[in-house]
Amino acid sequence: MAKKILVTGGTGYIGSHTVVELQQFGFEVIVVDNLSNSGIEVLENIERITGLKPAFEEFDLADRILTDDFFARNNDIDAIIHFAAFKAVGESVQKPLNYYRNNLVSLMNILENQIRFGISNLVFSSSCTVYGQPDVLPVTEQTPRKDAESPYGNTKRISEDILRETIAVNPQIKGIALRYFNPVGAHSSALIGELPLGVPQNLVPFITQTAAGLRNELKVFGNDYNTPDGSAVRDYINVVDLAKAHVIAIERLLKAKNKSNYEVFNLGTGTGLSVLEVVTGFERATGVKLNYEIVDRRAGDVEKIWADTSFANEELGWKAEKGLDETLLSAWSWEKRVRGIK
Ligand code: NAD
Ligand code: WQD
Repeated sequence: MAKKILVTGGTGYIGSHTVVELQQFGFEVIVVDNLSNSGIEVLENIERITGLKPAFEEFDLADRILTDDFFARNNDIDAIIHFAAFKAVGESVQKPLNYYRNNLVSLMNILENQIRFGISNLVFSSSCTVYGQPDVLPVTEQTPRKDAESPYGNTKRISEDILRETIAVNPQIKGIALRYFNPVGAHSSALIGELPLGVPQNLVPFITQTAAGLRNELKVFGNDYNTPDGSAVRDYINVVDLAKAHVIAIERLLKAKNKSNYEVFNLGTGTGLSVLEVVTGFERATGVKLNYEIVDRRAGDVEKIWADTSFANEELGWKAEKGLDETLLSAWSWEKRVRGIK
């Protein structure tokens, strides 16, 4: 019988791409999402890609009573991928309590039910934000974490601690924390992708919305960083490559191939790209000229970060495969489909 995987936040950006990969691998998927940052139509689009509509329940995982009730009815789940969280860095500064409550309480509710119902396996969405501005690049999983720059970043750091400390005294639970670098792009079908509510905060959605005419110009935040062209450097990882790593992580836990009960992996490409390289990459890949202007640095931004991915390459047998042009083209195809642009 197919193993049953709970995907929290499964109608969201990374979650939806992961549901597709899990279904295509042969897993049975149940999605829980409160639709606070995604739409129900995502389920139909997943079905159009895979031929399978995942089971779905809409509720808030930070609600203890609803979460307990869900697990009491679904105690046959084999593994959980916990994507559900609020993720807007700037908003988290304005509404810290919302972020701590949503991101931390949902994780604690899940862990308590794992213990109660003997559900061993958890893959958790962490972030390169836990490294802050590292002293040495690229960052390995041993690179010391730094004090978070935002309540959002702090929720990821504290979540990792909650996971590690809970697993230390509950050896029946096994967890993998995946530290994503900058996820970008969309599924090649253009049926699922990233659809930010309001003005996008992240670079690639802002680029595609500018190209689509929704925004007048892209603001490039800073050209006076200590980087080759002066703009900030990140490790942009294709979302489908990222989704595939989750299938491997789940298999690792289900097949007990993990080396310790709590493991951490960096998921990036291993290559740093500047904002201006992404801008020119987009123009090259799509043939669309971007209107952009250099402005001041954005508060809280780090200068440069990219991943050392050797641990994921060697231990998971996973490597980012898609190049920048293909990735940016996929983001553009998605934006065009959503906006009805030919
Ligand atoms: P997203 O907002 O697209 O998806 C998250 C989903 O979780 C949304 O569909 C939202 O409705 C749902 N959700 C939020 N709180 C919930 C709750 N309490 N109960 C039920 N559902 C809830 O975000 P994403 O980009 O897909 O990110 C997924 C995970 O990866 C998050 O944990 C995020 O912090 C982490 N992450 C994202 C990035 C990134 O740049 N996108 C980078 C590193 C880590
Ligand atoms: C990338 C680069 C901007 C928008 C964020 C979170 C991080 C993680 C990933 C979740 C930066 C520049 C951006 C724009 C620009 N998320 N930029 N003009 O800040 O690296 O990381 O998402 O865990 O925690 O902080 O991503 O896409 O916002 O920015 O010049 O309009 O693009 O300054 O150098 P970031 P981003």
